[in-house]
Amino acid sequence: MRVLVSGGAGYIGSHTTLQVLAAGHDVVVVDNFSNAKPSVMARLEALAGQPIEVHGFDLTDRDKTEHLFATEQFDAVIHFAGFKAVGESVEKPLEYYENNLDSTFSLVRAMQRHGVKKLVFSSSATVYGEDAPVPMKEDFPTSATNPYGWTKVMIEQILRDVAVADPEMRIALLRYFNPVGAHPSGTIGEDPQGIPNNLVPFIAQVAVGRREHLNIFGDDYDTPDGTGLRDYIHVEDLAAGHVAALNRLGQVDDAVSTWNLGTGHGTSVKEMLAAFSRAVGRDLPYQVAPRRPGDIAASYADPSRANRELGWQATRTVDDMCADTWRWQSGNPEGYPS
Ligand code: WQD
Repeated sequence: MRVLVSGGAGYIGSHTTLQVLAAGHDVVVVDNFSNAKPSVMARLEALAGQPIEVHGFDLTDRDKTEHLFATEQFDAVIHFAGFKAVGESVEKPLEYYENNLDSTFSLVRAMQRHGVKKLVFSSSATVYGEDAPVPMKEDFPTSATNPYGWTKVMIEQILRDVAVADPEMRIALLRYFNPVGAHPSGTIGEDPQGIPNNLVPFIAQVAVGRREHLNIFGDDYDTPDGTGLRDYIHVEDLAAGHVAALNRLGQVDDAVSTWNLGTGHGTSVKEMLAAFSRAVGRDLPYQVAPRRPGDIAASYADPSRANRELGWQATRTVDDMCADTWRWQSGNPEGYPS
């Protein structure tokens, strides 16, 4: 299949692009490079062993989006492009709603005009809201506690409604838990701009000397060691889940399918820090800090539907995640070159 990957220069998009290519599909990337460096594309091509067509524009530009679909023939779309920082979304709600929803409207309208029926959407476990029991299941109600999360809830609903209107659509809503890790080559990985919001890239920057110590946001949660539990999933396993979903869309009768992409296991902040220390070979400094507003104690998936229906299973361990992250970060202390 010829697959358009929106946000294909980003963290999850780049790793997924490689695996979609390795699965024998053709890939075209569109990315506005608002949260990715152009230098990633040369590394992707080196890893893929082939050139990768990339279009550098914003999907909210309807004319450019239409021109892309008019000049290229796509069989499917994987839609990663969007703003994704929780805290930033609270400060800039209108930017988040406008960008994430408008880019999706522009993309799906172009798909409809050009008869492209397969769509894999990058959703998030954040749609389970803050009161969901664990393990989280796909039939749980959805809600959010921040504008970023609401864009995911809203786009899922929009796509369900699009599928009712056009039953020929085959849409996969993939709910990621906590993506971490890097390609085993160490040449591509997570490269957050500014101070990392997320745990593992922050720990990685402590390990490489860019940050003084990790702040553990609360050690008084109702969890075994008092720190937050999350379902960390290796980005390579996550990418494989996208390939499995893409292939499955050619076989399912339902217009919309929802799958959790997680390991089904919760790992605490302290356990993750210990695992990263093992990867680096020394203890990493931390301080216990106040809880972060909006954080929940525990989040982890019931991945059984994806395991069963996609024939997909996360296989990489927390130690794999830390070893691969460390290989990327130690080889690229400042991330991708500008
Ligand atoms: C994990 C754990 C923190 C940083 C976020 C988004 C979610 C999704 C995944 C997009 C928590 C603790 C963190 C730090 C810490 N993104 N922590 N010190 O919050 O589970 O999910 O990323 O879809 O939408 O909300 O991930 O990595 O920020 O936090 O103690 O410096 O690490 O309290 O327990 P989170 P995270």
